[in-house]
Amino acid sequence: MPEPIEAEVQHHGEETIQRELWGTRVGFILAAVGSAVGLGNMWRFPYVASEGGGAAFVLLYIGMTLAIGIPIMLAEFVVGRRGRLSPIGALRKAGGPAWVPMGFLFVLAGFLILSYYSVIAGWTVRYGIDAILFGFSDAPGDRFNEISTGFPAMVYHVAFMIVTITIVMLGVEKGIEKAALVLMPTLFVILIGLAVWASTLDGALAGYAFYLKPSLKELLDPTIIRQAAAQAFFSLSLGMGAMLTFASYLSRDENLNREAVVISFSDFSVAFVAGLVVFPVIFALGLQGDVGESAVGALFISLPGAFVEMGSIGRWVGLLFFLALTVGALTSAISLLEVVTASIIDEFRVPRKPAAVSAGIVITLLGLLNASSLGLLGVFDKIAGELFLVLGAFGLSVLVGWRMEDPEHELRLGASPWFAGVVPGVKFTLRYIVPPVILFVLWFTFQDAAAAVRAFLGG
Ligand code: TRP
Repeated sequence: MPEPIEAEVQHHGEETIQRELWGTRVGFILAAVGSAVGLGNMWRFPYVASEGGGAAFVLLYIGMTLAIGIPIMLAEFVVGRRGRLSPIGALRKAGGPAWVPMGFLFVLAGFLILSYYSVIAGWTVRYGIDAILFGFSDAPGDRFNEISTGFPAMVYHVAFMIVTITIVMLGVEKGIEKAALVLMPTLFVILIGLAVWASTLDGALAGYAFYLKPSLKELLDPTIIRQAAAQAFFSLSLGMGAMLTFASYLSRDENLNREAVVISFSDFSVAFVAGLVVFPVIFALGLQGDVGESAVGALFISLPGAFVEMGSIGRWVGLLFFLALTVGALTSAISLLEVVTASIIDEFRVPRKPAAVSAGIVITLLGLLNASSLGLLGVFDKIAGELFLVLGAFGLSVLVGWRMEDPEHELRLGASPWFAGVVPGVKFTLRYIVPPVILFVLWFTFQDAAAAVRAFLGG
């Protein structure tokens, strides 16, 4: 049994509130990896990668993760652990009252992202249940249309939210940490098994080639650069205070630098392995067209189609796949709701249970809208899942690179000598490299989000 970490006491005016802390280091890592690994890796990554030309996108994505993602994750860690508060309060502590609106933007992003994330998670649960009850439909496109919007989608969305709310209500150690300890290893095992199986398909090689052979001219395409950056933020759960909030429960002798590397590497590995499952399947079964056509539905149309063609074993392979996806989605949804819940607890002194339930209910209601229109869901994803995160990441780099007092000190607490040695490099990156790159990305992301809104409103 690991030693419990000594509890920290906080002073809020007159009251003294005991802040929850992680029970173990592994618990924190699994919860953070659980936040990062989710629909983003398995639903979003493959379709954005295929839109972005496959391998070129993958290379840019690796670059963005290393050069921008890890520094921003460290920025969130520093602000969260120093402040020992959820985003609104922690940003106020780090930068002063002018940074409070950004805290609200983070909370708003949490609301909006979870409101559609949970709808997609609901589809995932639905496919798993389909697999158990009657196998996959041999008209996967029609099936997707039946279940993705309207009443059926709403029922599964609500059910998924109820589970998420319940875990967040139980708190950091008993709820989030316990769930992650069981769910994350399950997910890894299932995914590796699926990748091994996918490698045996005829046509797997064509899938690998598309996925892994870059064409150089795409590496300089601003659209693909933008997508790679946005995908890195979404997948690593950055830009809206999820990692910040998790770090606020972290002990001061934890090595933040090492944890950022471990978390980012795990997240990338899962996305990469998901690609090793999805692309061989798509090419083996000639589903390239389906994936290109409907971005949001790509995974949910192409893979069940594949499972059907596989015959009777496909039903079980598919069940495992959707089970893994549900698990990933759940640990991510927990972190999204935790940002909102922790903010309510810290800012309004509401106890955890009513905070989680009331935030959860509002998000569930908002999600009903997304469950009634795929177009709206796509617009929410562009605005909250891309634009807000890029904006948030920009703010974090400016705050920690330029404004906050001695962030390097916080980065060195608990760091081994090697990691302490790279701390000045992190600060330099946050100051001079990350802001200009994000500004470039922000410009294109803004235009893209505006175009999505116009297209949605115009028809
Ligand atoms: N990273 C998760 C995924 O890849 C989604 C997610 C969870 C998220 N928390 C977040 C995205 C916070 C952005 C911000 O599925």
